[in-house]
Amino acid sequence: MMDWDELVRAAAGCKKCQLCETRSNVVFGAGPRDADIMFIGEGPGEQEDLQGEPFVGPAGKLLDDILSIVDLNRGNCYIANIVKCRPPRNRDPREEEQEACIGYLFNQIELIQPKIVVCLGRIAAMRMIRPDYRITREHGSWEEINRIWTTAIYHPSALLRDVTKRPETFEDMLSIRRKYRELGIKV
Ligand code: URA
Repeated sequence: MMDWDELVRAAAGCKKCQLCETRSNVVFGAGPRDADIMFIGEGPGEQEDLQGEPFVGPAGKLLDDILSIVDLNRGNCYIANIVKCRPPRNRDPREEEQEACIGYLFNQIELIQPKIVVCLGRIAAMRMIRPDYRITREHGSWEEINRIWTTAIYHPSALLRDVTKRPETFEDMLSIRRKYRELGIKV
């Protein structure tokens, strides 16, 4: 396990998979290092790659709105991704790319020690919850994994494409608020 500075340095110079060849920036993650709630996306898109920050493109704007439903924002939760470098043309990150990268995220989680993890979309849920996770059926349900309450919601990009899914995400956010209140988390 690396400490925070070592981890930032290792990720910044990472060449463990081919995504390093096409990236502009490693998107390490953003938010307070002692956040109680963590959101995990799939991988950087174009804007994220250019700016080095997670969820700053169109999906990120929607994520901000989703967070605000339950008094969350970039100041009180930590946001990261399964892979830290952009997959070309925003394709799904490949198994070997996820495998090469996931250690950084696990190390980050060990250091942050969040009480709640929210997966954004099926790719994150399949990696963090179960390989056969079905986002359509299982979003909003809770599992305690290594002492961390873990759930998944639809990816904001999916909600941009299909607005009919938004009411379900609204309900899931209310469930996230119930959970953080139940755990005594102050935001
Ligand atoms: N989509 C993601 O999954 N992550 C980002 O950081 C941006 C878009």
